[in-house]
Amino acid sequence: MQMGVMPPLSFSICRFTALLLLLLSTFPCRGFEFQEATIDGIQLAFREGSLTSRRLVEFYLTQIRALNPLLHAVIEVNPDALRQADLADRERRSGRRPCGGLHGIPVLLKDNIATRDRLNTTAGSFALLGSKVPRDAGVVRRLRRAGAVILGKANMAEWANFRSLDAPSSWSARGGQGRNPYVLSADPCGSSTGSAIAAAANMATVTLGTETDGSIICPSDFNSVAGIKPTVGLTSRAGVVPISPRQDTVGPIGRTVSDAVQVLEAIVGFDQRDAVATKAASKYIPRGGYKQFLQVDGLRGKRIGILRAFFTFPNGSVQQKVFEEHFNTMRQKGAILIDNLEISNLSIILDAAQSGEEVALLAEFKMALNSYLSELSSSPVRSLADVIAFNDKHRIEERVEEFGQLVFLAAQNTTGIGPAEKSAIARMTQLSIQGLERLMMENRLDAVVTGNIGVTSVLAIGGYPGISVPAGYGTAGDPFGICFGGVKGSEPKLIEIAYAFEQATMVRKPPSFRK
Ligand SMILES: *[C@@H]1O[C@H](CO)[C@@H](O)[C@H](O)[C@H]1NC(C)=O
Ligand SMILES: *[C@@H]1O[C@H](CO)[C@@H](O)[C@H](O)[C@H]1NC(C)=O
Ligand SMILES: *[C@@H]1O[C@H](CO)[C@@H](O)[C@H](O)[C@H]1NC(C)=O
Ligand SMILES: *[C@@H]1O[C@H](CO)[C@@H](O)[C@H](O)[C@H]1NC(C)=O
Repeated sequence: MQMGVMPPLSFSICRFTALLLLLLSTFPCRGFEFQEATIDGIQLAFREGSLTSRRLVEFYLTQIRALNPLLHAVIEVNPDALRQADLADRERRSGRRPCGGLHGIPVLLKDNIATRDRLNTTAGSFALLGSKVPRDAGVVRRLRRAGAVILGKANMAEWANFRSLDAPSSWSARGGQGRNPYVLSADPCGSSTGSAIAAAANMATVTLGTETDGSIICPSDFNSVAGIKPTVGLTSRAGVVPISPRQDTVGPIGRTVSDAVQVLEAIVGFDQRDAVATKAASKYIPRGGYKQFLQVDGLRGKRIGILRAFFTFPNGSVQQKVFEEHFNTMRQKGAILIDNLEISNLSIILDAAQSGEEVALLAEFKMALNSYLSELSSSPVRSLADVIAFNDKHRIEERVEEFGQLVFLAAQNTTGIGPAEKSAIARMTQLSIQGLERLMMENRLDAVVTGNIGVTSVLAIGGYPGISVPAGYGTAGDPFGICFGGVKGSEPKLIEIAYAFEQATMVRKPPSFRK
């Protein structure tokens, strides 16, 4: 969970940036341009024989070795990644299986997404190191079936930022402090910190993140990448270290909307182990998948509501100017923008103590985490109480003096879904129906658009989808994104809008590693 705005942090800065950039720019490419490579470009090069999956994995491993000491985006590299790449190359050469989509594509997973292989799955915490998961997460099974190469595990805010209010939203005990590759002293946000940084800094082709409230949208926004937070239940949460089954969702992060969409297409669908949610959401999956919505004229005729509450940038700021230009571009591309819309009860929705989100998440987390931990094949910790005790015993490694574990302690105090939790959940449902849904219905909207990450709680408590796309860079070179959100199952429209916006603006630049 992304818990509000974190205080600005300053760090001592690595001095090796120039050297690293030199090193990377001289990496032998044999004609294929590895930097900013897209899935379509890679698949073309595979078909033409100018690239192998092995060469691609080798490139990302080199990037990780060079950049990770600076960026802390990756916790573990998969010792079997090259073997998987070789297998993909053999399959392609033999013509034994159709090799489209993600076949041979290296994917980096947030460290809370289980893999039953030599990689650990720890949500960034030492407490889960050495635990054995019973099986791959549902989304990982789908990735493997699609032929993807599992490159490794991405750093993240420890426990998806649900341990404490005082820890940075981009730090874990195992992975360290993630850095923003554009401005190293800037917050990279979280909790899918490493997933966004790694995509931004060309350390993987694409990555997976998870979101409970803001954890895909915020780091995507801060690191100039495209992130999709799918409707809750569209992607299976089985085998994902949880916060709340009511709000958790797994989604892709990539350098382009098209790359993210291709991953989304591969990971959606029913999963027996997350049956209720994935069955309910499977009605939203369009026949023919999601790639068909990658249309350059996707903005034409779309009714998009501007939520000005999320565009409160100072007069004369870069952001204010850039977003007005973007609105003009969207109008030129045929969108109908409905301005100055307001979501009812927004101040309640944005205050987790008032909306009910806080009460519900604390109780849901304890139950869901205990259930996840009890299903592990082996583990040093079997319950939230064990994790709390582990932290008390490992105060140095887990930086307990500084960050504490207040959220854990508050969650441990809960006793299931009682009257208070039920009423909190009912309030969130009511706020969502009276809020985003009513606004969209009354104005016949296809989507809403927002310019900072404040909207994430609106999307979170309703289980709604959102897509973040790079929108610009501030005066210091710090990236900012634009977010398109909508009602449950509106991914096809959001993809049309996000893709057409991206193609019309082409904002993204590779990172500059400024201090
Ligand atoms: C997983 O953690 C163990 C320590 O328990 C370590 O020895 C092993 O190298 C880790 N796996 C990977 C792939 O890094
Ligand atoms: C920005 O300018 C507009 C008019 O141009 C004005 O109404 C508004 O109050 C100004 N906002 C701030 C924060 O100064
Ligand atoms: C847990 O509950 C006890 C007893 O009601 C209370 O004293 C304590 O402050 C609570 N702790 C947290 C972190 O909420
Ligand atoms: C939200 O606001 C509307 C009025 O716009 C009101 O009717 C409704 O009861 C409010 N909902 C909640 C949950 O506060």
